[in-house]
Amino acid sequence: MQNILTSRWMWFLKGLPSLPRASAMFAAKRYTMTTPQRCRALWDVCETVMRKNVPGAFVECGVWKGGSAAIMGLALRHAADARVLHLFDSFEGLPQPGDQDGEAAAVYSGGHAAGKLASIHKCEAGLAEVRSYLIDQLHLSEKKVRFHVGWFQNTIRADAPQIGPIAALRLDGDWYESTLICLEHLYPLLSPGGVLILDDYFCWSGCRKATDEFRAKQGITAELHQIDVDSGFWWKENNPGNIPRHNP
Ligand SMILES: C[S@@+](CC[C@H](N)C(=O)[O-])C[C@H]1O[C@@H](n2cnc3c(N)ncnc32)[C@H](O)[C@@H]1O
Repeated sequence: MQNILTSRWMWFLKGLPSLPRASAMFAAKRYTMTTPQRCRALWDVCETVMRKNVPGAFVECGVWKGGSAAIMGLALRHAADARVLHLFDSFEGLPQPGDQDGEAAAVYSGGHAAGKLASIHKCEAGLAEVRSYLIDQLHLSEKKVRFHVGWFQNTIRADAPQIGPIAALRLDGDWYESTLICLEHLYPLLSPGGVLILDDYFCWSGCRKATDEFRAKQGITAELHQIDVDSGFWWKENNPGNIPRHNP
């Protein structure tokens, strides 16, 4: 019974009534650590930004085997939308958590929690494996999928200027530093009306702390919608709170 409930076909059923969404969820099931609710929500927000013509690329930071990236790429292909999908990852697993990530992260890392950019060998998937899934197996266009390989701390700041505007930004790097660097350098590129998805806001305290601090500093008051026990998203408002108000 358990096997049926967690099978690819159950994910397919949970993607209905939209057949393209169900097919994408079927294809992603074995390549994501997320849930059917999160994949369904991801497909839906991608469709919304495309329908509203929000300008910009799709970006995921924290890719693992590529399941969520597949949902984003297949949503683009289904809409015949030519946006680029940018994928940032070490492709060698999570780095060490640091001081801000709390006890649970320290335990999860086996005590390797000094914040070093060294793999703790969790959530590990290599570039060749991910490329093979997305390009060879799913036939996403090689020209439209860009892999940014390395620690966010090295790649995000360096590569952000090449990305241009972003319409959908999905952060799934678990830790405080991994989340903050993406918010600081990529959130400013998110177009008004675009969506920010935080896979770990409700499950990893470091991600939550980085996000709360960033929101407070930037004066962001957009409602954070919860998807499931771990994950949430907000729409970037047209008039973000960080624009100073002047008295007439
Ligand atoms: C939880 S997994 C991502 C899960 C995936 N999005 C899915 O759909 O299942 C976290 C990923 O973030 C990456 N990651 C976390 N912090 C990073 C950093 N600072 N630099 C590069 N990659 C990082 C890890 O390599 C890992 O692949």
